[in-house]
Amino acid sequence: MRMYDLIMKKRNGGALSREEIYFMVEGYTKGEIPDYQMSAMMMAVYFVGMNAQETLHLTMAMAHSGEMLDLSAIDGIKVDKHSTGGVGDKTSLALTPMVAACGVKIAKMSGRGLGHTGGTIDKLESFAGFSTAISTEDFIKNVNEIGISIMGQTRELAPADKLLYALRDVTATVDNMSLIASSIMSKKLAAGADAIVDVKTGSGAFMKKEKDAFALAEEMVQLGKNAGRNTAAVVSDMDQPLGYAVGNALEVREAIETLKGKGPKDFTELCLTLGSYMLLMGGKARTEDEGREMLKRAISSGEALSKLAQFVKAQGGSEKMVYEPALLPKAKRQEPVLAEEEGYVEKIVCDEVGICSLMLGGGRETKESVIDLSVGIVLEKKVGDKVNAGDVLAWLHANDSEKLKAAKERLLSAYTIGKNKKDGGKVIIGVVK
Ligand code: URA
Repeated sequence: MRMYDLIMKKRNGGALSREEIYFMVEGYTKGEIPDYQMSAMMMAVYFVGMNAQETLHLTMAMAHSGEMLDLSAIDGIKVDKHSTGGVGDKTSLALTPMVAACGVKIAKMSGRGLGHTGGTIDKLESFAGFSTAISTEDFIKNVNEIGISIMGQTRELAPADKLLYALRDVTATVDNMSLIASSIMSKKLAAGADAIVDVKTGSGAFMKKEKDAFALAEEMVQLGKNAGRNTAAVVSDMDQPLGYAVGNALEVREAIETLKGKGPKDFTELCLTLGSYMLLMGGKARTEDEGREMLKRAISSGEALSKLAQFVKAQGGSEKMVYEPALLPKAKRQEPVLAEEEGYVEKIVCDEVGICSLMLGGGRETKESVIDLSVGIVLEKKVGDKVNAGDVLAWLHANDSEKLKAAKERLLSAYTIGKNKKDGGKVIIGVVK
């Protein structure tokens, strides 16, 4: 079999067989298929698509590209949560300690930033010393002892996705339903827990249209169930950034505020909804309402924040930064973006906000890029807010004047100010079980 022939077959509209998909995934994982051929294949898949059978084979081939974790040494139900990617989407940082504080074990596998979206691992690395490159033994030990652990993909766990994820990030081949479904579900299957997937839709999501987001949700729930895992999906809004902060350390700060009960309304609501389903899945709550009450109590009692501190410490990070977020990485300059006219914020092109954060240095331009954890954007105005000319729409946190100038212009043009007072929309759009 030759990779060249497979690229040509897909490029010409063909469907790849199980053997062809396994050949491609195994060859790429072993380093026998080079990046340039895999990039061409990803682009062909982007344009031609994959059918349900191909997506299933791709998912299984990637899940089995390394070790399949055996979590039987962890008592009880363990739950994982994953997002399809958004802007300001710091959900895992606040949600997982909230749920763990209510007694459901979190065994989570996370990724880095992808395209214009941020990634949980990058954000967590804002805590000095924190590492997700932990051994399987430590992962299991932490889940058993603290109730929560998050690891990144290793050479052992879903390595094919680790490689493909980094390649898709820099070749504009992220936003394809089969590639997203197989990327997420291969990790979830390899990591061994039951899962809830937060499928984002809107201008900041990879699935811009609700119809596509629901199709992706159905596909992932089906892939999970076929593999014997309890899987559910929540479809949520990403037509404007979630909360106010976008950028690694800035988002960590907002997540900490949320664990103190002082978080943005939309973000808190998303955490309570996803969390209540996780408590149902984990058998700790009988109803969604009961789950929400438990989560609110975990916040008001301080247990959720202290769970975050325990988790950060267990993975080598600075626990002090959890209690003193001012110690987190901070950019040298904070510059306002000012409104040029009076009116209401009618729209914020959400992926543009993510790109601005990337331009400031918060995301990767190439696979080798080192990211700046301190930079990003803090919005002051969101959809529906009244503004006067000269009001601050957002603050840019930057370390480099050139990057700051470019991001400032771009952020201003992401805003539409008009006469109509629009509703920011609801955060939760639907659930697929
Ligand atoms: N998250 C993933 O893990 N993979 C994708 O392809 C998109 C979001």
